[in-house]
Amino acid sequence: MEFALTTDSLAKRFGSGPTSVPALQGVNISVRRGEIYGLLGPNGAGKTTFIKCLLGIVYPTGGSGHILGLPLGSIRAKEKIGYLPENHRYPLHLTGEQVLRYFGKLSGVDSGILKKRIDETLGLVGMSEWRNMKVRKYSKGMMQRLGLAQALINDPDLIILDEPTDGVDPVGRKEIRDVLTHLKDQGKTVFLNSHLLSEVERISDRVAIMRQGEIITEGSVEALTSKKNQYEIRVDSASIVQTKAALGDALHSESDGLIQAEFMSTEELNTAIDKMRSQGVLIESLIPKRSSLEDLFIELIGTPDLHRAN
Ligand SMILES: Nc1ncnc2c1ncn2[C@@H]1O[C@H](COP(=O)(O)OP(=O)(O)O)[C@@H](O)[C@H]1O
Ligand SMILES: [Mg+2]
Repeated sequence: MEFALTTDSLAKRFGSGPTSVPALQGVNISVRRGEIYGLLGPNGAGKTTFIKCLLGIVYPTGGSGHILGLPLGSIRAKEKIGYLPENHRYPLHLTGEQVLRYFGKLSGVDSGILKKRIDETLGLVGMSEWRNMKVRKYSKGMMQRLGLAQALINDPDLIILDEPTDGVDPVGRKEIRDVLTHLKDQGKTVFLNSHLLSEVERISDRVAIMRQGEIITEGSVEALTSKKNQYEIRVDSASIVQTKAALGDALHSESDGLIQAEFMSTEELNTAIDKMRSQGVLIESLIPKRSSLEDLFIELIGTPDLHRAN
């Protein structure tokens, strides 16, 4: 498996002595090439510090890592990385196109192809129409999309985004998600930080949850949110008693005809269905239980202090 980025016990302590802040406490993360990876955590968890260590903006005080096969902070790796900083600000008197020209030159895009790259990236983020408008007039969503275009101007292999949808309305967030999915389809790797759970849940292949500088869980959204062999069963009201008897030990609870059950295996589930059907029970629905990432988060962090993204 080829990784776009890996860290090994990455640590960062701001300051020294009793007032120092341990922002990262031995973080191990591996991001596969071609995936969308979401780093989640409440404000102050260390997400931005992690990204800054990846990019060499902040020097780690411990551990190591590789990005696109090169050591963290390597200048050569940066040529193939796109970065959207948290709360970025562009000069308000520039137009969207001028911002991209400026950043394109800064990141060393060849002047012969810069115009083409500007056209492409503006098209990709759906901002072609507003290329000649001054960014002063841009909405937060337009600003973020311009930020995405800026992160893509050098045609990077790895795109690192710090809170890309923060402050953006639902329509704008959907547009940003679509751009990120498109990038993945093109084979790019996307690493994003967010405190917005449902955003990350929708687009990430894998996520990690960070708390106080530590990764407390990591995996595919699917694996983290599925409750194995737990089902919600609805039957016709005349069959509730027979259903409960047929379920035996698998029965968890019943309320208003909605039955919660947990089986040892898929075979046991099917045996129970056979039994119910043979007794004439009319099954109206059978739905596997899935917790949301938010449920998991509350379970792990203990407080729902994240903003919901609707
Ligand atoms: N330059 C800095 N100097 C001192 N402390 C910092 C600095 N940057 C971040 N921190 C602290 O490190 C911790 C992690 O911050 P940050 O990485 O910004 O978290 P997040 O992005 O998850 O909100 C916080 O306690 C923050 O106050
Ligand atoms: Mg941050």
